[in-house]
Amino acid sequence: MDYVRLREYMSGEVPAKMLAHIDRVVKLAGFFGEKYGLNVSEIKLAAQGHDLFRALPQKELLQKAKDMDLDIHPVELNSPVLLHGPLAAIELKERFNIKNPQVLETIKWHTTGHPEFSLESWAMFIADKVEPNKIAKNSDLQIVSDIAGESLEKAALTYIDIRINEALQLGLQIHPMSIHTRNTLLSKFDAISNSGG
Ligand SMILES: [Fe+2]
Ligand SMILES: [Fe+2]
Repeated sequence: MDYVRLREYMSGEVPAKMLAHIDRVVKLAGFFGEKYGLNVSEIKLAAQGHDLFRALPQKELLQKAKDMDLDIHPVELNSPVLLHGPLAAIELKERFNIKNPQVLETIKWHTTGHPEFSLESWAMFIADKVEPNKIAKNSDLQIVSDIAGESLEKAALTYIDIRINEALQLGLQIHPMSIHTRNTLLSKFDAISNSGG
């Protein structure tokens, strides 16, 4: 399965607006992949599949997760939109026979990030957050895009910090995977600065 074929399948069931977002993410993620010498076809496939279920109503996402016997974290129960990645990963594996575990993990965790994300995963993650329409809607994200020009992982840490700050200000819950991811990225950069490099 390549991303072009998956796009054909998805175009019949994903709303046009969502498809347009996905197209922008595929393009930017592919750009990051080439810039950093990564596996571009893997990145584009993850980007193509990531929002398969993003347009579904939250109620439906929750019902799907219950039907599939998914382990639902209390934060996800409170905010079922968080389930659209995990559910898409299952569907893409079962219905579209996508087996590459790295592609599936990228899609599963594309909202929070994950401590074990590869650079391919981060390329997709960052592209999703800073594609042109996202920056046009929220200029605070420009810094994430700028930093992505030098390091995808530093850009990821910056993005997660922005989101956590926002959640704190608004009194919203924070998914524990965002915290784990942030801690892992931070200790990575600490290790680099402590080694004098
Ligand atoms: Fe998404
Ligand atoms: Fe997205």
